[in-house]
Amino acid sequence: MKVDVLLGLQWGDEGKGKIVDVLTKNYDIIARFQGGPNAGHTLEFDGIKHVLHTIPSGIFHKGITNLIGNGVVIDPVIFENEINSINKLNFDISELLISKKAHLILPTHKLLDAASEKAKGKNKIGSTLKGIGPTYMDKTGRNGLRVGDVNTSNFNEKYEKLKNKHIELLKFYDFEYNLEELESIWFKSLDTLKKFNHIDSEHYIHEALKNGKKLLAEGAQGTLLDIDFGSYPFVTSSNTITAGACTGLGVAPNQITDVFGIFKAYCTRVGSGPFPTELYDEVGEHLGRVGNEFGATTGRARRCGWIDLPALKYAIDINGVTQLMMMKSDVLSGINKIKVCTHYLNSNNEKIDYLPFEDNENLTPVYDEIDGWKKNLMKINNLEEAPIQVHNYIKYLENHLDVPIKIISVGPDRKQTFFR
Ligand code: GDP
Ligand code: IMO
Ligand code: MG
Repeated sequence: MKVDVLLGLQWGDEGKGKIVDVLTKNYDIIARFQGGPNAGHTLEFDGIKHVLHTIPSGIFHKGITNLIGNGVVIDPVIFENEINSINKLNFDISELLISKKAHLILPTHKLLDAASEKAKGKNKIGSTLKGIGPTYMDKTGRNGLRVGDVNTSNFNEKYEKLKNKHIELLKFYDFEYNLEELESIWFKSLDTLKKFNHIDSEHYIHEALKNGKKLLAEGAQGTLLDIDFGSYPFVTSSNTITAGACTGLGVAPNQITDVFGIFKAYCTRVGSGPFPTELYDEVGEHLGRVGNEFGATTGRARRCGWIDLPALKYAIDINGVTQLMMMKSDVLSGINKIKVCTHYLNSNNEKIDYLPFEDNENLTPVYDEIDGWKKNLMKINNLEEAPIQVHNYIKYLENHLDVPIKIISVGPDRKQTFFR
């Protein structure tokens, strides 16, 4: 029995899609367990660049089962667009399985998301406006519609009931909308969703594991966006952590073997909320420009800053990370001195080396400084070609984080990945 979990340790966009694609050949099943089309997972190989939102990142490999788990929320319109763009690339996607228990994002969920953000004004979460929050609210409020409902005879009735409730809620906001067009596109796109196999995915997974199959659970977002452990309220609405793979797929904690924690060699965040190591200077500008830090889903510029060890340690502890993977190491090339946040000072000037409940907008990062390197890492063919300073940076992080760094990524392409 083997389930491994791969997830982000920061605020998302660590490069999960790329590494899932690289690791897929070691597994039989790749499964998304939470989140929805707020995710944008980028894969690059053979000159193709592709962004996935709902579909797992193992989809470009033959003979692998890709599964959308019960913990995921699905917008049929975005799902259809994803299917169409993969079809254009001539990849077989008939093996894609979808949990009957996955919840549906309705057009009115997206309207509620937008209305809520507008009402929050300058305190907005900076959500992706994909309807994520309202859909998970209906899930926990026990009002949601699920994939398994779409083929039932009273589906339209259930839809109308929930939609009408949302229309009542929308009256609370000063928000104009035109639902008709959104609705007609949504219903048309349901036909594509219906073409796929809707299954009791937890049962399918249990049988597969009993038959010796291996499963990789693909996280979306990142640990610091987790609904419980992230920088609340500036978080997403699902559990992005290892425990989310248990509830989002129906696997038991003792079935999980390895937890792969992915982080950038620096740090980024999209949307609002605290970010202690954020940079507003030319180094921040360098990271954004060289790292091409624009959201894969919304196109928004990502905020950039130095790597944050207290936050990483917190994420490692919460997830039980067994192996680390450092992404975008190439982006640090050309920076003379690299800073690493070792702890914070709070507003009383007290040393803090974890993420506290209070005061997290006012933490001052304290840094160590490490020598940088000039060589463009994108051009190296193996880790031996990396300058000594790169090895020193890796060792420094390993010493502080106490977990081995097993993969170093030096570019967006599948091939720009080195195992240690
Ligand atoms: P995800 O959401 O965690 O899958 O990450 P995203 O796809 O949203 O963002 C990661 C971005 O970095 C994508 O544009 C990737 O193509 C790119 N990327 C991944 N790994 C590397 C790397 O090692 N170096 C560089 N320069 N880009 C990378
Ligand atoms: P991947 O899987 C980065 C952020 C949004 C916002 C907050 C809440 O590509 O790493 P939501 O739409 O979920 O209600 O937004 O979470 N966010 C992400 N940031 N990567 C993501 O996904 C994200 N998904 C949501 O920017 O701050
Ligand atoms: Mg992303």
